[in-house]
Amino acid sequence: MNDVSEFWAAALRRVWGLDARLSRLDGEYDLNFLVQATNGQDYVLKVMRAGCDSQLVDLQIKALEHIAAEAPGLPFPKVIPGLDGGLLLQIDDDAGRPRLAWLLERLPGRCYAKTVPKSEDLILKLGRVLGATDRALERFSHPGLERPEFKWDLTQAGWIADKLDAVADPDRAALLREICAQFDAVADMLAELPRQAIHNDVNDYNILVEGELSERRQVSGLIDLGDMCAAPRVCELAIAGAYVVLDYPRPERALAALVRGYHAANRLRPQEVDLLWPLLRMRLAVSVVNSTLMATENPDDPYVTISQAPAWRFLEDGSVNGELMSARLRAVCGLPVTDGAERIHAYLAEHRGQFAQLLGQDLSDVPMGSLSVENSTWPQNPFHMPLDEAARVGAEFGDGLWLGYYNEPRLIYAEPAFRKGPWKASDRRTVHLAVDVFAPAGTPLLAPLSGRVEAVENRANHLDYGGVVILHHETPEGDAFYTLYGHLDPEVCDRLKPGDPVAQGAAFARLGDAGQNGGWAPHVHFQLALTTDGMQADWPGVADPDELDLWHAVCPNPAALLNLPDEKVFYRPTDKAEILNKRRAHFGGNLSLTYDDPVMLVRGWKHHLFDEWGRPYLDAYNNVPHVGHAHPRIQAVAADQLKRMNSNTRYLHPAQVEFADKLLSKLPEHLQVCFFVNSGTEANELALRLARAHSGAKGMVTPDHGYHGNTNAAVAISAYKFNKPGGVGQADWVELVEVADDYRGRFKRDDPDRAQKYADLVDDAIAALQRKGHGVAGFIAETFPSVGGQIIPPKGYLPAVYEKIRAAGGVCIADEVQTGLGRLGEYYFGFEHQGASPDIVVLGKPIGNGHPLGVLVTTRDIADSFDNGIEFFSTFGGSTLSCRIGKEVLDIVDDEGLQENARVMGARLMDGLRAIEAEFACVGDVRGMGLFLGVELINPDGSEGTEICRYVKNRMRDHRILIGSEGPKDNILKIRPPLTIEAEDVDMILWALRSVLAEVGDYAPAPVCDHSHHHDGCGCC
Ligand SMILES: Cc1ncc(COP(=O)(O)O)c(C=O)c1O
Repeated sequence: MNDVSEFWAAALRRVWGLDARLSRLDGEYDLNFLVQATNGQDYVLKVMRAGCDSQLVDLQIKALEHIAAEAPGLPFPKVIPGLDGGLLLQIDDDAGRPRLAWLLERLPGRCYAKTVPKSEDLILKLGRVLGATDRALERFSHPGLERPEFKWDLTQAGWIADKLDAVADPDRAALLREICAQFDAVADMLAELPRQAIHNDVNDYNILVEGELSERRQVSGLIDLGDMCAAPRVCELAIAGAYVVLDYPRPERALAALVRGYHAANRLRPQEVDLLWPLLRMRLAVSVVNSTLMATENPDDPYVTISQAPAWRFLEDGSVNGELMSARLRAVCGLPVTDGAERIHAYLAEHRGQFAQLLGQDLSDVPMGSLSVENSTWPQNPFHMPLDEAARVGAEFGDGLWLGYYNEPRLIYAEPAFRKGPWKASDRRTVHLAVDVFAPAGTPLLAPLSGRVEAVENRANHLDYGGVVILHHETPEGDAFYTLYGHLDPEVCDRLKPGDPVAQGAAFARLGDAGQNGGWAPHVHFQLALTTDGMQADWPGVADPDELDLWHAVCPNPAALLNLPDEKVFYRPTDKAEILNKRRAHFGGNLSLTYDDPVMLVRGWKHHLFDEWGRPYLDAYNNVPHVGHAHPRIQAVAADQLKRMNSNTRYLHPAQVEFADKLLSKLPEHLQVCFFVNSGTEANELALRLARAHSGAKGMVTPDHGYHGNTNAAVAISAYKFNKPGGVGQADWVELVEVADDYRGRFKRDDPDRAQKYADLVDDAIAALQRKGHGVAGFIAETFPSVGGQIIPPKGYLPAVYEKIRAAGGVCIADEVQTGLGRLGEYYFGFEHQGASPDIVVLGKPIGNGHPLGVLVTTRDIADSFDNGIEFFSTFGGSTLSCRIGKEVLDIVDDEGLQENARVMGARLMDGLRAIEAEFACVGDVRGMGLFLGVELINPDGSEGTEICRYVKNRMRDHRILIGSEGPKDNILKIRPPLTIEAEDVDMILWALRSVLAEVGDYAPAPVCDHSHHHDGCGCC
């Protein structure tokens, strides 16, 4: 402690009776100290500048007392009385000047500014705290609240208008003038609102947030009431909003979350909500003008300009649709989206059945045709729909009339224009906001009700509306609403012009042909909107599934205008929560689900998957769809074979030998005999039987943490399962050896002899089996241990092990389920990397690309040893269908160059991961080959970063990337995508991983007490 701190520590002892260590905190004019008292509590001591107005401090103290009494649950600090009971004390400083001093409880948490990520959930909670605070302050009064000429009182913000000359950049000055004009336009409305005490400075340094990594973050403090004043409560919300939006990737979503939270705690009126956007921008304008003026006074202080940057970035970024903001914010509050919205809904409901029929005929019995993600396979490739495919959309619904759903998520909107970010897996607009009426081209359209033409255009761009008309209508009370008719014959542009009246029932347009419909069958896209603010004539026909509260409110279900019940045309995707509940009811608890918030996946294409709302995910985890999800050649082969017949290996079929021929062509010559089964597990079970039959022995050697399947014997050789708490334990005939992990194991990468040293560990295992009388039937290992943590054993390890095993009479089994078939890029099988020559190779997962298929390949000698006269038969193993699919997978890997793709993309990923490793301390190791990669996450002390890994995996899912985790302590990210992955997907993985790892920061898990070294705060003893 320095002299000043010593001085105030002594004062603290004298006045508050506390012994403490003091350290200085930031403070422009006042002295602020962090107080760490010997009683174990932390406080903040505030020593106000000499001559400070005591009323302003009294205001803060009284406000805190008021809040504590009204709403004790709110996260505000308590004021600690001195020994004499006083809260605000006058103490002479070291220069003998009287200073006002007060002591506050120190609240936990870090400031919001330094919290990453700032989730919408956290912002919503902030909104709630803010709303509850303003409710608590409603009845608080104090003379200090009236602050004339206070530059931070938003109602007085007009002062900046006279200072705009200080802003040199003419574009910026013009922007500020526009913001001031918008502020002036709402000034009267603002002046009419009731005023109350508000905090008035909920900036990101005055908000404290608690919660580490995966814990849900909470607002643990609102501090610094020094700017309190009386103002309308929307000013509070606008000020907090002005900070929450800065540098937020989707600022409108952040603001919506804040307002939703506030409204939940403190109901806003629609007119207040409408003020938020102009007030928020005005607050930022005040900030930049204020700091520009300060910069003029302190030209050498670079901080002043730096601190303006985020505000300018926000104000100058045109990507937020400000005109749509009122609707957005009203919608998230559940308030009517326009002042007339409720009357319009009532009018439409009342007149349902009385509107003119759009096609001149009753649509009640016209069938619905679903094009939803779940029901439709249009388009096959959700990233591109060729015109010939578009022409067949809905062909299954026939040539007659049919209707397309409102609220239906569709993958048809395949082109990048519907994406909201740079990646294929970025958010995209999928949910249809209109009803489609499919009818022959040329069918006349009759106006459901009278109106006038608002817009008439020919939007000729591919996938746009073609001929489009928007009509303006009014209810008898004068509330305006609008209807849009898309995909019309563009001749309408010659006949109508804006302003023209259209009578109810008048034929005002005709359906266009496929050319007006992005190539699909002729139909009219019929959409209703309660406002055109922020859209004008450019209405989105489909919406982001995560913004439906806004779009349902702006563009409600138009069923009433078609004289149809709402339910008929309203699409409801399968309810994920219901499926989850039923799954819990119908299945065992150890059928585990990935992610804290599980995903439901209903469609796939290559290395992307889609949920029931059409949200895309990049699949960086699943190795089963080896050649990609929904591969057209696999579909075709399966359908073709199922059309013919599907039988078993008791009958001859060329497919059996064709598959075997192809597979054997990829393997060393000594492997000559195939057994077709249904799974990797079954193949490993069989491998054990073969090894025992051939060796006449029982014992098996296998590396620790391995996995070979889920049946009794497969579990017995899978330490990953039998050694888990609650596992069946190690069988007497199994001996484990340490995994050849040269990152974490006992022999590290700097040891040139590590391969041999790891192999030598097998000697003891062999000896133990022989001692126990089991002998050595064989050795089984995942060639590159996968569940053990994506480990690449040092070259030469397996041949050295095999030599020892063979010398002991055992058979060497390579489980290539994870590593085989080209995934490694440079090698078709993992054992090739090792220079090893296995006696049995086991294949599974990828070889069926999702169809259940496993294969065991072995030598003629071993097959003969097994052939003891008892039939080997696996009913479905080697079925005609399986053989054709298996062969097709192998052919596709060759035809599409997927092994080479694995090599090139794997190298790209590895380069990026290495750069990330160098950047982030929590990345301990990156390793792998081709598209079999692992990223080992560690704590600051080098121990396994299990919690970090869980966090990263879940956050990658938030970024729409599916990734796995493995390893004995589940701290290794497993990247193992289908082999079709492309460069832009690799770049997305690297981008997302980098941003998620930045959120981890210096996280360290709380130490766990092992009872031998107790530590501070360990509650265990
Ligand atoms: C290396 C390895 N072997 C065998 C199996 C078992 O395969 P299946 O689940 O198809 O029975 C797996 C499954 O994850 C595996 O990773």
